[in-house]
Amino acid sequence: MTAKTLTQMAVEVLTTADGREKTALSHKYAAEWFAARAAGTPLPVGEAEPPLRPARPEKPELLDPRDVPRRRPGSPEGRKAILHAVAHIELNAVDLHWDIIARFGHIKMPLGFYDDWVKSADEESKHFNMVCDCLEAMGSHYGALPAHAGMWRAAEDTVHDIMGRLAVVPMVLEARGLDVTPGMIKIFQNAKETATIEALEVIYAEEVGHVAYGSKWFHFLCGRHELDPKDEFHALVRKYFHGALKPPFNEEKRAEAGLPPDFYWPLADDIPNKPRDS
Ligand SMILES: [Fe+2]
Ligand SMILES: [Fe+2]
Repeated sequence: MTAKTLTQMAVEVLTTADGREKTALSHKYAAEWFAARAAGTPLPVGEAEPPLRPARPEKPELLDPRDVPRRRPGSPEGRKAILHAVAHIELNAVDLHWDIIARFGHIKMPLGFYDDWVKSADEESKHFNMVCDCLEAMGSHYGALPAHAGMWRAAEDTVHDIMGRLAVVPMVLEARGLDVTPGMIKIFQNAKETATIEALEVIYAEEVGHVAYGSKWFHFLCGRHELDPKDEFHALVRKYFHGALKPPFNEEKRAEAGLPPDFYWPLADDIPNKPRDS
């Protein structure tokens, strides 16, 4: 057993560059955290200094999103490109969940806050490995294609604002994942790629939890500071998120995750498409 604090563990994950190594360490530390919790002797959270940006492998090459080549989703190459982009998102998600733990160690939070983000980080680690396995089974691998360079921007923009972080990362970016994953699953169903469909179904189910944790702790902090959650959410997303939210929204899954329509519709850029019955 290590005598490490949770925030030290988080920094170790953040400073590990290789994806498979990072996710193995993430899984190991999650298991240690939950074993100590189950034994009634929780590890100290402590305080640590996370890097501004996590360590990244030499490959993939990180490009401006405009320069990442687009491929037809119907082709095998297009499907590899989609999965590669998903692997990149999952790796960033591992770091985002450990980063919220390490970055805001100075803010006193209930232990349940750490339980939720450690569990999320562990799930993201599994997602990364599942998607990498699928890529490898298709004769590709993570690093074979260029990837999106802007993925860490939300973290940097909210480096001093835990509520801004919760608003933008789980409640906007991960919620967006709920909107787009069913379409992605359809692409792989059309291609009858069973292993990938199964991996995406696991991701889709577990991501609802991450959005829900975001909403839960956002509401908790609003309560602590006597702020109106909806107004605060709108103000923080407008402050830190660059651009409008894109409908169509997955209202079903967003509702399951504790995101009501009046949180996200006023931030959408396409109000005329708003369903008439809402
Ligand atoms: Fe994920
Ligand atoms: Fe997630």
